[in-house]
Amino acid sequence: MASGVVASILDCDFTRLGEEVRAVDPYVDRFQIDVMDGHFVPNLSFGFPILRAMRRLTNKPLEADLMIANPDRYACRYAEAGADYVIIHMEASQNPRQTFKEIRAAGGRPGISLSPATPAEGIYDYLEAVDMVLVMTVHPGFGGQGFMTGQLAVVEQIRARIEESGRDIPIEVDGGIRPDSARLAAAAGASLFVSGSFIFQSQDYKSAVATLRESLQ
Ligand code: DX5
Repeated sequence: MASGVVASILDCDFTRLGEEVRAVDPYVDRFQIDVMDGHFVPNLSFGFPILRAMRRLTNKPLEADLMIANPDRYACRYAEAGADYVIIHMEASQNPRQTFKEIRAAGGRPGISLSPATPAEGIYDYLEAVDMVLVMTVHPGFGGQGFMTGQLAVVEQIRARIEESGRDIPIEVDGGIRPDSARLAAAAGASLFVSGSFIFQSQDYKSAVATLRESLQ
């Protein structure tokens, strides 16, 4: 099962994006690009130009986390632009199954995400169509928020459902991930850990990631 630490670039210093990515690249397993449209979430971030830049900066797997109101319209274009994984929020998609097919046809791997307001059952029908599940552990939209421990039960429920299905689908958690919350999420059944501020606001990216990994042992 895919496992590891995923660096969310939302909190990096964008005046030095290349240096920031190269500085953390040797220590992480993937990068996540948070795409926000100011509608699905109360924040605006970035899109294709940053994804294309990231594709030139790293060979690590790239996740495009689409926090946008109309993911069905844009998802496959993120795969075409170089994202290995394209994650759509089930709360925003009108036709997730069709969009998953389009992501695969464009060479990407689909993921489904759920926000804290959505119960685990909300994604059960789509487990056979995705390659990863992203459980938001904060309300999506901003980095630096506190980890919502109530989401641990959602991770446990989805892990149990995946075990029943016999499929090999990793659960990723995102939001407020630090050593203590990562340890709790791992015990609940997560294996991919997105971290933004804990890494990029640290003085030493190498030891920040090492500390996160130690908490998962
Ligand atoms: C929030 C984003 C997260 C965020 C994580 O909506 O999806 O990826 O960047 O940042 P931290 O680790 O600071 O909570």
